[in-house]
Amino acid sequence: MKFLEKLPLLTTHPELLALLFAAGFVLIAGLRVLLHRTRIRTRLDSGLTLLMIALVAGAIAMLGGGTGGGILFLDAYAVFIAATAIGLVRIGLVLFVDFYLRERKGAAVSTIFRDVATLVTYFLIILSVLRYTLDINVTSLVATSAVLTAIIGLALQDLLGSVISGLVLELEAPFSRDDWIHVGTFEGQVLEVGWRTTKIRTRVNEVVTLPNTYLAREPVVNYSRPDPYHGDTLRFEAAYEASPHSVKQAVLGVLLAEASVQRHPAPEVRTTQYDDSGIQYEVRYWLTEFGELERIRDRIMTNLWYALRRANVRIPFPARDLFVYSQAPASVLDGGDVAATLRRVPLFGPLADHSLDQLATQVHRLAFGAGEVVVREGDPGDSFYVIERGAVAVVIGRQNGSAGRTIAKLGADDFFGEMSLLAGEPRSATVVAQSDVTVLEVSRAAFQQIVLGDPEILEPISQIASHRLEVQREQRRFEEAIPPFGSDPAAQRLLRRIRAFFRIGE
Ligand code: CMP
Repeated sequence: MKFLEKLPLLTTHPELLALLFAAGFVLIAGLRVLLHRTRIRTRLDSGLTLLMIALVAGAIAMLGGGTGGGILFLDAYAVFIAATAIGLVRIGLVLFVDFYLRERKGAAVSTIFRDVATLVTYFLIILSVLRYTLDINVTSLVATSAVLTAIIGLALQDLLGSVISGLVLELEAPFSRDDWIHVGTFEGQVLEVGWRTTKIRTRVNEVVTLPNTYLAREPVVNYSRPDPYHGDTLRFEAAYEASPHSVKQAVLGVLLAEASVQRHPAPEVRTTQYDDSGIQYEVRYWLTEFGELERIRDRIMTNLWYALRRANVRIPFPARDLFVYSQAPASVLDGGDVAATLRRVPLFGPLADHSLDQLATQVHRLAFGAGEVVVREGDPGDSFYVIERGAVAVVIGRQNGSAGRTIAKLGADDFFGEMSLLAGEPRSATVVAQSDVTVLEVSRAAFQQIVLGDPEILEPISQIASHRLEVQREQRRFEEAIPPFGSDPAAQRLLRRIRAFFRIGE
């Protein structure tokens, strides 16, 4: 206790120093109460506790020191020195590294380095205290007990390997938190990179703890670096009778309608192989939300079925099945008699049988899957649709990523698409399939023929169209993304044209 010799009063009255330590103890205890429930308190807690232990040990040592000092007091003195040093290093690290460097400066300080450096410092402090306070020669102790060293060495072999791999991973930084990676047989999002292990969360919400040695050994694929763009490849076959260009057009339509498919780099469809059962195509598209990969794939593959069907492209069965048929098998979506469906539609009530039969030969039956867009707001429109099966939603303002507002739902035997057909304006709303839907598409020419043959059909249509426009006008008033009808020249123009067309007075 050489330092005390410089303070005569404290040397002669060690109980004074003990009292000072007790006061320090109370001060720190008070500080802990003051910082109660704050973030800094939780982080500094162990450091402050160590300082409190140090002060108690210091007070004991001082009291004993006055009486000449026994072994207990020497130990207490050693605890005082060690706990003070470790406590101060801990508090210093938390304040400097965690709060100053990481939080204020935003510096990326490696957790493993920080922890290893801290442990080495603690170890050195304990060694010095043993050597200089208790006069124990630790070097010779460790050197002479070779068996002990070997046992500890062997026991720590794996642990050390993992820690060193962890350090190498930190240095190389092949991934960081939240990155999606594939390593060995595992794929998931990095949760945390630790000393010995790295945790990833798989798509099915399992947390896999991978030893760092495993990560150092296996190739690591990082899907989130150097940028979040990931190219996904899908393969499918289409029948030989469908021209590759028509197939590619249908597939690109599906890809461009999917919001998660990036526009740049643009999606590509390639004809890759002439197989036994059909032509093989490969689709390459880019996405940025790797975590959503399976859902995006599902939407694309699902919508592809409908799009290929609409384009009259057959998806072949494997040739191995040796399916002998003269006509493509019917799908559940193929429905029944078109004329019977048209006859059920109240709108066509006034039409004579022969007009309906003629119309039935001119319509196309199209199938859409839930979520697919049948007509899109703002697109040019020259056809009219009768719903044969399923339900659709009429949505306005569904543009530029906005979900839009559903203003009506239509079901079997309802119709839509009359507005732009009659007024020659772009589609006034987006119509989205809500379930598997089949519609009968009536072209402008076919529609004109009916109107010319039975002009009275225009009366119910005009009534319904003007009512629908009225509803839209009401709804748009509440839709922030859409200008009010008063300042929406396109909507006003449409209204004027419909009114003129149907000779409805202002
Ligand atoms: P069109 O403008 O050609 O395309 C979108 C279609 O949605 C539109 O024709 C109507 O058939 C339909 N539509 C628009 N507004 C409504 C509404 N308020 N209620 C029901 N259907 C509507």
